[in-house]
Amino acid sequence: MATLGFIGSGSIGTALARLAIAAGMDVVLSNSRGPQSLAQTVAELGERARAATPGEAARAGDWVVVSIPLSAYRQLPATALAGKVVLDTINYYPFRDGNVEVLDSGRTTTSELVQQHLTGAKLVKAFNNIGDLHIPALARPAGAADRTALPIAGDDPEAKASAAALIDQLGFDTVDAGPLNESWRFEPETTPYVLPYFAAPATPKAFWAAVSEAVHSGEHGQTPPKDPGAPLPGHRLRTLLAETPRVLTADRVLR
Ligand SMILES: NC(=O)c1ccc[n+]([C@@H]2O[C@H](COP(=O)([O-])OP(=O)(O)OC[C@H]3O[C@@H](n4cnc5c(N)ncnc54)[C@H](OP(=O)(O)O)[C@@H]3O)[C@@H](O)[C@H]2O)c1
Repeated sequence: MATLGFIGSGSIGTALARLAIAAGMDVVLSNSRGPQSLAQTVAELGERARAATPGEAARAGDWVVVSIPLSAYRQLPATALAGKVVLDTINYYPFRDGNVEVLDSGRTTTSELVQQHLTGAKLVKAFNNIGDLHIPALARPAGAADRTALPIAGDDPEAKASAAALIDQLGFDTVDAGPLNESWRFEPETTPYVLPYFAAPATPKAFWAAVSEAVHSGEHGQTPPKDPGAPLPGHRLRTLLAETPRVLTADRVLR
């Protein structure tokens, strides 16, 4: 039985854990506060789920999803993750994570920074450009005509193929966006980021301004609820990835 480990079990982690269980996998969840704090989530997910420490979740996973704020990336258990295929959902938001000069200047990408810390792990950026509510809304079985595609990026071709096979089981097609140094193509506020998965998107500026206002006024969540989502086919995602300009922190509305 395949096992998916999770470091970070919030909105994205639990959304992916549900899909993994539906696909017949076991899941091992972890967070910063310890396994006890995940008792209710584990009870809701059922007998295929258990909670552990980040190190244990890393060791147990055939793949490990890392889904935490960027500000905590240096606390990821690099030794336990060595040799693993790690799916990195992390986005950089200075209002939450603090400013990181090498990211603000565009000298590197968020996932390259995380990969530098995770020596020996094979990082694949994935699931960072879709809102948490659109994950269950758009997951479809393999072969469905209205399947949605997600971008992936990584430096290890075998790890990328392995991550793509996992994501296929979870309910999505993938489009290879290249190595990690190309993963800026689906970082925040680029063209493929979040909005193409909306059924009724606002203009990007208006959308991010509304999210920015909600976040800075203390309202929780970054994705306005109630949008049912719209399938994004692979050919359209490929075009969006190819055509997007790079969006540095200073160019963003939400930062
Ligand atoms: N929400 C979205 O729609 C969305 C979409 C795509 C990508 N993302 C990105 O994916 C990441 C997770 O987002 P989210 O919305 O799921 O966040 P979230 O709901 O706030 O959950 C964050 C999780 O990370 C855990 N965590 C924090 N520090 C940790 C540490 N040092 N070790 C282990 N676990 C730690 C938290 O555990 P505790 O609660 O115990 O601290 C929590 O389980 C972020 O980088 C976000 O930008 C989010």
